[in-house]
Amino acid sequence: MIRWFTAGESHGQGLMIIMEGVPAALPLSEEYIGVQLARRQRGYGRGGRMLIEQDWAHLMTGVRHGLTLGSPIGMTIENKDWANWQEAMAVEYVENPSQEGRGRRVTRLRPGHADLPGAMKYGFADVRNVLERASARETAARVAAGAIAMRLLEEFGVKLYSHVISIGGVAANVPENIDWDAVEESPVRCADPEAAALMMAEIDAAREAGDTVGGAIEVIAENVPIGLGSHTHWDRKIDGRIAQALMSINAVKEVSIGPGREVVNQRGSLVQDVIEPVTDPDNPWQRKTNRAGGTEGGMTDGMPLVARFGIKPIATLHNPLPSVDLDTGEPVQAHFERSDVCQAPPAGVIGEAMVALVLADAFMEKFGGDALPETRRNYAGYMATVGPRQVYR
Ligand SMILES: Cc1cc2nc3c(=O)[nH]c(=O)nc-3n(C[C@H](O)[C@H](O)[C@H](O)COP(=O)(O)O)c2cc1C
Repeated sequence: MIRWFTAGESHGQGLMIIMEGVPAALPLSEEYIGVQLARRQRGYGRGGRMLIEQDWAHLMTGVRHGLTLGSPIGMTIENKDWANWQEAMAVEYVENPSQEGRGRRVTRLRPGHADLPGAMKYGFADVRNVLERASARETAARVAAGAIAMRLLEEFGVKLYSHVISIGGVAANVPENIDWDAVEESPVRCADPEAAALMMAEIDAAREAGDTVGGAIEVIAENVPIGLGSHTHWDRKIDGRIAQALMSINAVKEVSIGPGREVVNQRGSLVQDVIEPVTDPDNPWQRKTNRAGGTEGGMTDGMPLVARFGIKPIATLHNPLPSVDLDTGEPVQAHFERSDVCQAPPAGVIGEAMVALVLADAFMEKFGGDALPETRRNYAGYMATVGPRQVYR
């Protein structure tokens, strides 16, 4: 089992991550994690914050001489922007907090954010106490944790990808064989260059209008072994775990496994994946299609795992929406804080991280092992039994 926690406020000193359950002897470096953090920072439609930050995760615990120790892995990511917020976000008691500039109490509630329910729930008179943690800055910590999960999965041949399938109503015509290098080069992380140009125009038009746009993303995990998760109990089902992980990403409003909603209105004969006769016992259980998105009965079925999620347009608008003041209940314009126009491109990288964390957890649940060689033996032992029962028992 892999457990992980994040801590940190958007304009505080930094983010912290503790991850437990990663086996010993896994090669791991800050550079490897850095690649994923840099991917999250790119993307057309991002705001000014990403120009300030150059995220880097400092590995502080759980790794020695480039190998994990099996002990909790601790990391920190510095917030460069902290330099501008030291007083407004000071940890120490402040007698009379300045009501000028950044220190000013935030009371103009932003619809579509955690502002109102968070202030009510925690009894705050300053919405900053809520928005600092509710901010998607926290997703940098998830990506760092996800990179470690990917590193583990990679040892067993599992690879994760993501691409944007729509932005602001412009849908990609997804090619059968996706060129993943081209997706990485695409400013909107889209596999269809023509649609990508239209998506960028859509982002520009929204920016001009002081507005924002959302989008949809597909995450794919290849070479996932058959049998992760379980049909035996609701909270062990892999599709449910993936749905929760993706839905927990800020602004995500829908999740589906495989084509999701598209299959709902079709006949049953058109939406299953016929199991082919086994001709090669070492490569059994082939399917011609993958309409189930790689899960059946709450378990991975050996096909690529495919999950899609939809992200709403950003709620902070340059032309702020009418709102209400927390102090008086009187009408005001919603608070504006530096903001992105479209977060769909980086959301794909965050989605990959979340799927990797779920798969790594399910992987260690299935194969266990305190050190990587032990996990490898368990994996090989199980994989040797995966075939027609007359051949493998
Ligand atoms: C990568 C990423 C970046 C985001 N950037 C912003 C932003 O700049 N401004 C904003 O208002 N919301 C942004 N959001 C969305 C908000 O964090 C989110 O809508 C808000 O916390 C309310 O949560 P909910 O939409 O899940 O209910 C971002 C989300 C993601 C995934």
